[in-house]
Amino acid sequence: MTFSRCLSGLAALSLLASVSLSGAWAQSPRVEKLIGQMTLEEKIGQLNLLSGHHAVTGPYATQDVEQALLKGEVGGLFNVYGAEYTRNLQRLAVTKTRLGIPLLLGYDVLHGYRTIFPVPLGQAASFDLAAIEQADRIAAREASAAGVNWIYAPMLDITRDPRWGRIVEGPGESTWWGSRIAAARVRGMQGLSLSSPDSVLACAKHFAGNGATEGGRDYSGTELSERAFREVHLPPFKAAVDAGVKCMMTAFNTVDGVPGVSNEKLIEGTLRKEWGFKGIVVSDFGAIGELVNHGVADDPAEAALLALRAGVDIDMQGKNFITDLPKLVKSGAIPEKAIDTAVRRILTAKEELGLFDNPYGRSDPAREAVVMALPEHRAAAQAMAEKSLVLLKNDNVLPLSNKLQRIAVIGPLAQAKADTLGPWAGHGDPDEAVTVHDGIKRLVPLAELLHATGGTVTRSSSEDIAAAVRTAAKAEVVILVLGEKSTMSGEAASRSNLNLPGDQMALARAVLALGKPTAVVLMNGRPLTIEDLHNEAPAIVEAWYPGTMGGLAVARLLFGEIEPLGRLPVTFPRNVGQIPIYHDQLPTGRPAGEKSQPYTSTWLDVPATPLYPFGYGLTWTKFEASAPRVDKPVVRPGDVMLVSVDVTNTGKVQGTAQIMLFLRQKSTRISRPVRDFKGFARASIAPGKTVTLTIPVRDTDLFFARSDGTFGPPEAGFIDVQTGFDAGATKSLKVDWRPKG
Ligand code: BGC
Repeated sequence: MTFSRCLSGLAALSLLASVSLSGAWAQSPRVEKLIGQMTLEEKIGQLNLLSGHHAVTGPYATQDVEQALLKGEVGGLFNVYGAEYTRNLQRLAVTKTRLGIPLLLGYDVLHGYRTIFPVPLGQAASFDLAAIEQADRIAAREASAAGVNWIYAPMLDITRDPRWGRIVEGPGESTWWGSRIAAARVRGMQGLSLSSPDSVLACAKHFAGNGATEGGRDYSGTELSERAFREVHLPPFKAAVDAGVKCMMTAFNTVDGVPGVSNEKLIEGTLRKEWGFKGIVVSDFGAIGELVNHGVADDPAEAALLALRAGVDIDMQGKNFITDLPKLVKSGAIPEKAIDTAVRRILTAKEELGLFDNPYGRSDPAREAVVMALPEHRAAAQAMAEKSLVLLKNDNVLPLSNKLQRIAVIGPLAQAKADTLGPWAGHGDPDEAVTVHDGIKRLVPLAELLHATGGTVTRSSSEDIAAAVRTAAKAEVVILVLGEKSTMSGEAASRSNLNLPGDQMALARAVLALGKPTAVVLMNGRPLTIEDLHNEAPAIVEAWYPGTMGGLAVARLLFGEIEPLGRLPVTFPRNVGQIPIYHDQLPTGRPAGEKSQPYTSTWLDVPATPLYPFGYGLTWTKFEASAPRVDKPVVRPGDVMLVSVDVTNTGKVQGTAQIMLFLRQKSTRISRPVRDFKGFARASIAPGKTVTLTIPVRDTDLFFARSDGTFGPPEAGFIDVQTGFDAGATKSLKVDWRPKG
C-alpha cells in the first residue's frame, strides 16, 4: 500500500482539521465531552454507515448489522424502517454500546414514504412550490413515524439528457426552477425544527454534476466546463445550503477527472469554505472503494485517505473508513484531529435531530399506526398528481362526457399498480395505488369498463394486439395507457432508445385505426421520443408516474373535472439524436430558421426544434399574450424590474394561463443562453377576459460566471426580456442594464 503517498496527505489534513475547527462551529459541550471519551475505534465507527435488512439500493448488502452495531462499528444504518424495528436498533445503540450514541437511520424517500406522490420530475411539472414543500412535509411525517431520521433527498441534479434514468428523481432541466424546488424540499423535510420528531435530516444529492453524465449512462464521467458546472449544476445545491440543508451526498461521477467523493476542491472549498455549509457529507453507495476503479487511488486505503481529506464524513456501505482509517491514523498518515472533525459533524447532526434527548421519538408505533396514508395525505397526493398532469395534445377528444356508457381502457399500464407508484416509491404499498382503470371506474361507476392489456410494456404478440382491438371496438371511447415500466426509470435504468418500449406503438396504431375518439395516457419517468404518437393520436396526457392517487387524478382530468395545470419542466426531443436539446442552449453564429437552410445550426434529417419545448402544456381553452412591458427601461444593481404581460382568454371556458419569463444577456463578451428561465406567473381567467400577469426580475437573476471566475452581474449591456407560454414561442423587449451611472 502506498503509505508514502498517504503520508504526503498529512500536511493538507492537519491544515484541513485546523481550518474546520477554527470555523464558526458552535461547539456543543455534550459533543465535545463525548469526543473526549471516545476511543479511536469508536470515533471511526461513527463514520461507518451500513445498509440494514430491508431494501438494497446497491450491488451488495451487509449481513451482521446488529453485531457491528454492538461492537460500536456503526454510526448509522440505512434501508431500515418500521417503528418497532428501528426502536430496537436505537435501543441497542443507546443501551448496549459503551457510550450510548444513537443512530442515524437513513432511507431514500424521493416522492413519499407510504403515501406516494408523483415522481419528482412530475412534481416539478406542477410549478407549485407550496405543493412540493407539502409533499415532502408529509413524506417526512410518515417516514419519521417509522423511525427514519435521515432522508436521501432532495435529488437536485439538473439534467438535459433523458437517456439518464435518474432524470425522474430530479427537478428537470432548469437551474432556476431546480433551485427553488431545492429550498422548498429542504423546508418540507426538515420542518420548522429539526429536533421535532416529525422532522428529518434532508440530504441533497448528488454533489455534483451527476446530471451531465456522459451518454446518459449511470456512474460515467462528465465533461463540464467550470462555467457550466457553476452556473447550471451547482446553484440548486447552493439553494439547499441557503435553506439550511444539513447533509450532502457526493456524486459517483467525475468532474474534470475528479470523482465526487474525492473532490476536495468542491467539498472543502466550494461547499464548506465558500458556502459556509456546516452539515455532514456522506459518500454515495460504496463510492469510496470505487476510487480504485476510477484509477485515482491505488488501493482501498488510499481511497479512504482521499475521501476523508476531501471532506467526506461518512462512508456509505463501503467499509473503507472502518477498515483503513485506524491504520492510517496509527501510521500518522491521518491526524486524529481530522477524524474528530468528521465525528464532531456527525454527533452535531444527531444532537440537532434531538436524538440524544429523545432517541425513540421517531420510532413511534402508535404514531406509525395512525399517520400512514392518512386521508389528508392521500388528498394532498391526489392534488399534487392533478397539478402535475400535462396535456400534450387534444384534437377535440377531451374532456370526455360522463354520460359515456362503454369505455375501453387499454394498455399494459392501465392496471399496473406498482408502475403507477413509480420508481423509488419509498415504502409505498402497490395495493393502495389507484390505477388509471380504477380511477375511471371510481369516477364514472355506471359506465361499463372494458379492459385489455394489449401485451406487456416490452412485448405484444399479434394476438395480444388483436384482442385489444376487439375490446376497443366495442367501446364509445378508448383510453390507451402506455409508457415505461417503473423499473425503466431511476438508478441503473438508462436507455439509448426513448421510443415507446416494446410493441406499444404497434398496439396504439392498431387501436387508433378503429377511428374511435382515443386519448393516450403516458406513464414514464423521462421525456420519450413520441413524434409518431403525436402525429397519429388525437389526444395525449403526460401523467409521469402519478403515485398512490394517480389514477383518480388522471380520470378527473380525462372527464374535465379538473383543468390541465402541468407544464413540462424538461424539453421533449423529437428523436434521441437531438439530445441534448434544452431551452437555455447557447446561441450560434448561424441560427437555424423555421425551414431547413444549408449551413445553419441544424440537422439534415430532423428540424432544430424539439417536439415539445420546456414549459409546454395545453389547457381546455386558448390564450393570447401581449409582448412584455417593464416598469423601468434601465435596470441597476439592487433594482427589481417588474415585467408585465396581458393575457386574454380567447376560448370558451375558464382556464389557467401560465406566462414564463426568460432572459438573454447581451454585450457580455461571453456568449449567454438564448433564453434562460427566470420566473413565471399564472392566473385563472374567464373567457373573453384579460388579466395582467407580472413577474419580478432581480439583478441576481442576471448573475453569471464571469470571465475572471467571479459570479456576478454582467458589465453594462442589454437584456432581452422574453415572455410566452413556453420556451418555444416568446415575445421580447430589449432592456438597458447599467451597473453604474
Ligand atoms: C444512489 C443514491 C442513494 C443510495 C442509497 C445509491 O446507489 O446513487 O441516490 O441514496 O444508493 O440508497
